[in-house]
Amino acid sequence: MARVLVTGAGGMLGSAVAATAVAAGHDVGARERSRLDITDAAAVQEAIGAEPWDAVVNCAAWTDVDGAEEHEAQAIAVNGEGAGNLARACAAAGTRLVHVSTDYVFDGTKAGPYVESDPAAPRSAYGRGKLAGEEAVAAAGGDHAIVRTSWLYGAGGGNFVDTILRLAGERDSISVVDDQLGRPTWTGDLAPALVACATAPATGIFHAAGQGSCTWFELARAALELAGSPCRVEPTSTESFPRPAPRPANSVLDSERGADAVKLGAWEDGLVAYLTDIGVAQPAAAGGAQ
Ligand SMILES: NC(=O)c1ccc[n+]([C@@H]2O[C@H](COP(=O)([O-])OP(=O)(O)OC[C@H]3O[C@@H](n4cnc5c(N)ncnc54)[C@H](OP(=O)(O)O)[C@@H]3O)[C@@H](O)[C@H]2O)c1
Repeated sequence: MARVLVTGAGGMLGSAVAATAVAAGHDVGARERSRLDITDAAAVQEAIGAEPWDAVVNCAAWTDVDGAEEHEAQAIAVNGEGAGNLARACAAAGTRLVHVSTDYVFDGTKAGPYVESDPAAPRSAYGRGKLAGEEAVAAAGGDHAIVRTSWLYGAGGGNFVDTILRLAGERDSISVVDDQLGRPTWTGDLAPALVACATAPATGIFHAAGQGSCTWFELARAALELAGSPCRVEPTSTESFPRPAPRPANSVLDSERGADAVKLGAWEDGLVAYLTDIGVAQPAAAGGAQ
């Protein structure tokens, strides 16, 4: 049993991490933003110094990728400076920090999967802020793990899979981009890995995402098939769907780490598990997809 503080515990991933840590028998402090704002350095120091936490799992972040383009300073305040506040307080207290980061630190132009040592080159304000957070965590000099993940979906937060299911209930057909490749990751898969990481000795950067890869179009099609939806999914291009923030064309995160790599299951299995969990998957379709 470890004492684990979870920041951003009101969010999609943070709520899954807090619940998973409780289920694993840890003594958990779940801090939503209203109880701990990571941009408040004094509050962070107080929260981490107040109790003998063994680890902090930082799931707090500015996650509005498009909004960050217009509000980069606010995004950096949370994703860069906020992460630094946590890292310095953890280093001072001798507390391990597991910090969640993203595929957006890469520019998405690599021909193959990205591994941990590939050079970061973010193209968006969100990516720059998240990279600043990684750098601040490493610079603080404490025991830490930076876990980069991608294409997250799960209960308790806005996400692509939920959006597709909602749109499919409103329309006969939807168009989804088919020229961005990534690894969908269910929070139900990632959360136990982050909790395990909180008590593991390994340090540095880790890539953790669902195995395999697909495009957003393929993910949407798989979700609607499993849900038994009659809605048609049409492939479209990034160009025809302009957004304020550039999206990486290739978001596939692989790992070059050996025995201490963070391994998750196949993305298709995560999708079946999530849709079954929320009562959307048709049992026959779910069986067929496995
Ligand atoms: N979603 C994805 O596809 C994805 C992919 C790769 C990596 N990630 C990373 O995964 C982590 C979790 O993201 P998520 O998808 O769970 O997003 P989320 O649902 O938006 O959760 C983020 C949480 O952080 C909170 N927060 C924002 N500013 C804060 C602050 N100053 N102090 C404390 N808490 C604050 C938010 O609270 P409010 O709601 O009150 O603002 C929210 O509860 C983030 O590090 C994100 O960068 C996400």
